[in-house]
Amino acid sequence: MYSQQSTQQAATELITAAPELLREFRCPICGEVFGTYEQLQDHYAASHEGAVTPVTVSLLINGKRTQVLIEPHWTLQRTLQFRLGLTGAKHMCDKGVCGSCTVIVDGRAVLACMTLTVEVEGKDIETVEGIAANPAWKPLIDAYCRWDAMQCGYCTPGFLVSAKSLLDHNPNPTEQECKEALAGNICICGTYPRHSQAILEAVYNIANPPPPPAPPMGFGGPGGPGGFGGPGGPPPQVP
Ligand code: FES
Ligand code: FES
Repeated sequence: MYSQQSTQQAATELITAAPELLREFRCPICGEVFGTYEQLQDHYAASHEGAVTPVTVSLLINGKRTQVLIEPHWTLQRTLQFRLGLTGAKHMCDKGVCGSCTVIVDGRAVLACMTLTVEVEGKDIETVEGIAANPAWKPLIDAYCRWDAMQCGYCTPGFLVSAKSLLDHNPNPTEQECKEALAGNICICGTYPRHSQAILEAVYNIANPPPPPAPPMGFGGPGGPGGFGGPGGPPPQVP
């Protein structure tokens, strides 16, 4: 299991791994590789007449601009998963019913399985990886972990994105407002009661950030030699 630190790091690595510009254009039918999109188009005209020619789309995802080669009918969920390795937006019902694929587009929570990739070119897209990589949202991730608001975890990224979208628009929601904001997310494992509790705890911790951890105590370290029993030292032994 990832620690909080490595979750943030892993999410950041996933985001930065996406290519900014495509340098090769692989034909999805025969696998031949071309150096430019125009060459790929010529190849389709010559070798795959009648087939749908792929398109290039420039996307702004989690603050990073990236170019992808996709078929024009691909959903945003499919592009995130199969072109960018961003697997947080889950493929579950694929019918706009369960909320597992929720992402934020231009500030609104939307279903990535119901959104064509070509529709969101030039828009600001935020996925659960972007939320996990952003230290400002660590209290929300931490609260979800503390409240154990997951069982199999498949639905959890969608819930987290909906929760983040709620807090973007309403930083101090009531329990009822949390429930309403998550009404479009389905959890087969039945974790519903814990989500509102996790969000309310995150709200409290965002407004009341805990003090930074005390520096470690030790010989010659801050606080002088020894340091046992002081802040950051080991807890006192119970006889
Ligand atoms: S997979 Fe998109 S709503 Fe279920
Ligand atoms: S935790 Fe399993 S579907 Fe929600």
